[in-house]
Amino acid sequence: MSKSRDFLGPYRLARLIRVGSTAEVWEAIDETSSDNKRYALKVLRASCASDKNELALLKHEFNVGKSLASPRIIKVLEHQTDKGRPFLVLELFSELNMKQALRKGPDSLAFMLDKIIEQAAEGLYYMHTKNWIHRDIKPDNYLVARDGETKLIDFTIAEPKRTGISKLFYKAKTVQGTRSYMSPEQIRGKLCDERSDIYSFGCVLFELVAGKPPFTGQTPNDLLSKHLTASIPSPVVYNDNVTTEFANLTKRMMAKKPDDRPDSVWEFLKEFRATQVWKKRPRVPEESVFDDMGGMKSAEDMIKRPDGNYDIEDKSKKEKS
Ligand SMILES: Nc1ncnc2c1ncn2[C@@H]1O[C@H](COP(=O)(O)OP(=O)(O)O)[C@@H](O)[C@H]1O
Ligand SMILES: [Mg+2]
Repeated sequence: MSKSRDFLGPYRLARLIRVGSTAEVWEAIDETSSDNKRYALKVLRASCASDKNELALLKHEFNVGKSLASPRIIKVLEHQTDKGRPFLVLELFSELNMKQALRKGPDSLAFMLDKIIEQAAEGLYYMHTKNWIHRDIKPDNYLVARDGETKLIDFTIAEPKRTGISKLFYKAKTVQGTRSYMSPEQIRGKLCDERSDIYSFGCVLFELVAGKPPFTGQTPNDLLSKHLTASIPSPVVYNDNVTTEFANLTKRMMAKKPDDRPDSVWEFLKEFRATQVWKKRPRVPEESVFDDMGGMKSAEDMIKRPDGNYDIEDKSKKEKS
């Protein structure tokens, strides 16, 4: 590879962290800075680099990200184009997302779950205070570090919170989100508010202790209809170390009707801080998932969606703008 091919702007692409359906995420070094600072670059894949909708989504992610400044959220620093490749410059953090950290089951994170859940909730709460609804809360969109520090990422389909009269005229152009974590109202293309993110966050909490999402389906539609009508599972069924109080809290978050969920992430945090997750304190595993950094492990990893879930099909992803 020629030297210039390794660069985007002043950034030398040092290592590929992940390939998604539309973007590659690279660890990159700013060779012009005196301390050779490292960043994460989210670069549109060559096949998407001139797709108008993808370009708009990347710009949107930049606009959302630059309005957010919290230690619980990955900083979005710049939006640039070089050699025909549009990209975002992001704060570099642990390359292990929560889904990868759960790959060997919930025990990997169990011993520091209080910290992870609290920080994950704080990131989401902060976003809500800035009047954004994330709309794609899932384990893949949280990065987790070895010490449990957790940050929220991926604002591609975030929407401004609607209030007053604009609520009345809301009609979703397309249904967007990730099937395993989508609230009933999001599936139906109705207006989403904080409580839609709380539903998805409830699904994430379920998975953190149960090791699998609350609903699975034989087909994408089967999975969606379970969110709409199936009875809400308790994580205790999959992990008998989970307390009834915590299980009940997750079940309330996954209530079909938004009114039956906690009103805000703040309400959730208040309750969570007064709740024990585990009956017995979990042990620190002998082998840490962080010693075997998930990132790029195999060719299979490169093409499959990281969660192996069905995302709402590419067509709708492309239509979102
Ligand atoms: N700032 C970052 N630092 C380290 N790894 C990151 C960073 N941002 C993203 N990643 C990795 O890249 C993956 C995909 O990033 P994401 O922004 O969610 O893109 P996509 O829109 O393709 O889902 C994440 O799940 C994570 O593993
Ligand atoms: Mg993502």
